[in-house]
Amino acid sequence: MKQFHSYAITRWFFCLTLLISAMAGAQVSENTQTQAPVCWESADCGLNHQPVQNASYKIDSTLLPLNLSKNTYSGYYTGNFSGLITAIHNRLMLSDTSGHMIFMNGDTFVETGFPPIPKTNVTLRDIKYIEKFDSLFACFHYQDNTDSTHHTSLGRLQFNKNTPVDNLKWSFIYDANHKEVQPDNCVFDVSDTKIYFIIGSLREGPAELPYAQDKGSSLGKSYVLDLPTGKTKLLSTGHRMSLGILARKNGQVWFTENGERGGDKLSFLQSGQNYGWPLKISGTRYFRFSKSATKDPVKDLRADSTAFTEAVYSWLPSIAPSALIELTDFHPDWDGDLLMGSLKAQSLYRIHLADKHIHSIEQIYIGQRIRGIHQTGKEIVLTTDEGTLVSVSVDTQRLDLNTALPLIPGGSLLSLCVNCHSFTQPDVTSAFGPALSGVYGRNIAMHNFAHFSDSLKKKSGIWDEATLTSFLLDPQSFAPGTTMKIGVKLKPDEVRKIVDFLKMLK
Ligand code: HEC
Repeated sequence: MKQFHSYAITRWFFCLTLLISAMAGAQVSENTQTQAPVCWESADCGLNHQPVQNASYKIDSTLLPLNLSKNTYSGYYTGNFSGLITAIHNRLMLSDTSGHMIFMNGDTFVETGFPPIPKTNVTLRDIKYIEKFDSLFACFHYQDNTDSTHHTSLGRLQFNKNTPVDNLKWSFIYDANHKEVQPDNCVFDVSDTKIYFIIGSLREGPAELPYAQDKGSSLGKSYVLDLPTGKTKLLSTGHRMSLGILARKNGQVWFTENGERGGDKLSFLQSGQNYGWPLKISGTRYFRFSKSATKDPVKDLRADSTAFTEAVYSWLPSIAPSALIELTDFHPDWDGDLLMGSLKAQSLYRIHLADKHIHSIEQIYIGQRIRGIHQTGKEIVLTTDEGTLVSVSVDTQRLDLNTALPLIPGGSLLSLCVNCHSFTQPDVTSAFGPALSGVYGRNIAMHNFAHFSDSLKKKSGIWDEATLTSFLLDPQSFAPGTTMKIGVKLKPDEVRKIVDFLKMLK
């Protein structure tokens, strides 16, 4: 870890140095001064990086047809990317866990030039730019070099568009010393003048008094910080590992939490509550059927179930919930709903609330481990562990047609194919055939379907108009021995319609 951080910081300095030299036309030197302002407005400020790879396709949710596009950025970010995403005046900004931040510039990236957080062994956990405070806030852990203590801290970088990059300076508005214990994650959201945050505690700590239950420890707790006074107040105890917190417009604060088996939950924060970890959990323990908190019976006896606040909802089996946002001005059918990411289930969850109750939850499969979610206007951007940015928007064209996949005009022929192929979930294989959404432009037999015939695997090239047409007109003569049997002989005009449709699905 230590090695990685110093590598990341060195690399950051390298990039910064390059940036400075490019902008000032000066010799490479870490002392070079420049008065370039923070740059988010112009398209060509800073360094451009390699264009990212793009793949796009369409899926249906229950209420809305969606356009998805996946852009690979992992080639640029070799560091420990944990999907941190925010936007500064509508320009998307990403950060790796060391605090190296970049702006998205169309399909490319530009350096922000923001200074690194001036602490040692920094692990950045959450970032958010809040326009009304002209500030980028960050929640991070660091280990103090002088006494090896572990800390969780909230930092603030305040600037406007005229602030020279050189004048940017982090200030710190909260610091908790966990001594020798490493904290597990930290998430925050800002509402009005308050910052709500949760410090995670996967580690249980001493059986007599686990960290998350010990009011003398800041691990496994939620807090509220009042920005004008700088005062922090303990809100709740018994938290395990939260990857998402949301201060809703109506004042409610909701959070997601990763439990053990079936302990993944969604709840709202209330002052004075104890959410139970590790004495009472919603699910069971790893590799066991028991809900019992530990092997230690003394601790189980202490678990007075009435003392703990139940989750509003728990998932069985676990889905590993991550970021949480509230949709605003996206589409009337979704506005006001929460959108939650998940790592394990690789899906988005649209959660329709009725005050503090959950009315319905819709799972929308994306096929990658979703970590961060950000809505800018009519676009929702997801960051994934696979190193992609997934953009989700409403397919207004198909919404106007009011016809779901695959029955849209020209698509009805596809009823021949749906028994074996999925048209909505590009990464999902059925036992019978590879997914066909995204097939246009894809390499032949390169989907993660496990049962391609040797005959199709031997083919090189991509699925385009010519290859699709000859395959569908006569599968056996295109790839002798192929295991695909459509069941009917398609006519040339039918094949043309199908190919047009597959093209449109891209
Ligand atoms: C009975 C099941 C079945 C039906 C029906 C079927 N397919 Fe297939 N399809 C397969 C199988 C199996 C494969 C893999 C063939 C192989 O490996 O030789 C395949 C492969 C394909 C591929 C190549 C995918 C890739 O990633 O390389 C395309 C394109 C395709 N099918 C299109 C269609 C279309 C369009 C229809 C409907 C008109 C259709 N299929 C109907 C089973 C089916």
